[in-house]
Amino acid sequence: MRRVAVFVSGGGSNMVALLDDMAVPGHAAMPCVVLANRADAGGLARATERGVPTVVVDHRPHGPDRAAFEAAISEALTPFAPDLICLAGFMRKLTAGFTDQWAGRMINIHPSLLPKYKGLNTHARALEAGDAVHGCTVHEVTAALDDGPILGQARIPVLAGDTPQTLAARVLEQEHLLYPAVLRRFAAGDRTPLFLDNTKT
Ligand code: GAR
Repeated sequence: MRRVAVFVSGGGSNMVALLDDMAVPGHAAMPCVVLANRADAGGLARATERGVPTVVVDHRPHGPDRAAFEAAISEALTPFAPDLICLAGFMRKLTAGFTDQWAGRMINIHPSLLPKYKGLNTHARALEAGDAVHGCTVHEVTAALDDGPILGQARIPVLAGDTPQTLAARVLEQEHLLYPAVLRRFAAGDRTPLFLDNTKT
């Protein structure tokens, strides 16, 4: 059984999708801890409701010292002995000091079809560019932001009248399908990318 640490900063809807899928009997992975960098992250209560231990490692006391923040994360993780890390709306950049330790064992979900639109405001940027297709990506985490080998993508059409909010909501629905499906494969050692195409209805 692979032990998974899930990192969140916010509401944790992707975390819930991962936890609920790992609760299905026969899954090759189990959640061992949910870690948040903010004590007010909504995902913490949702993890507790599901019987998963939580820890908070606040980045703020470390100021600009990312190495110290990452050392505190590593220390907090040790008792839970994770094999894998899933970033699920974890909004802190991680440096090579941390990503190298977890190379090939840490994955992230990002709300765009990478390599397009790394960083923030992905939905507004897709609309401004006039894209007909948008979506989300699960990828292995490297020191470069929103980079690393692609493990899966889900594509949806951009509709006439879409706003960043309507597009975000439809992409989020796809995130909740894609991330658990990719984690299942990844936990079983399968890194073949998974492509979900919802552009043809
Ligand atoms: C999700 O849309 C996720 O893809 C995005 O934050 C949201 C978190 O929502 N992540 C990033 O932008 C990371 N670069 P959630 O807390 O409800 O899962």
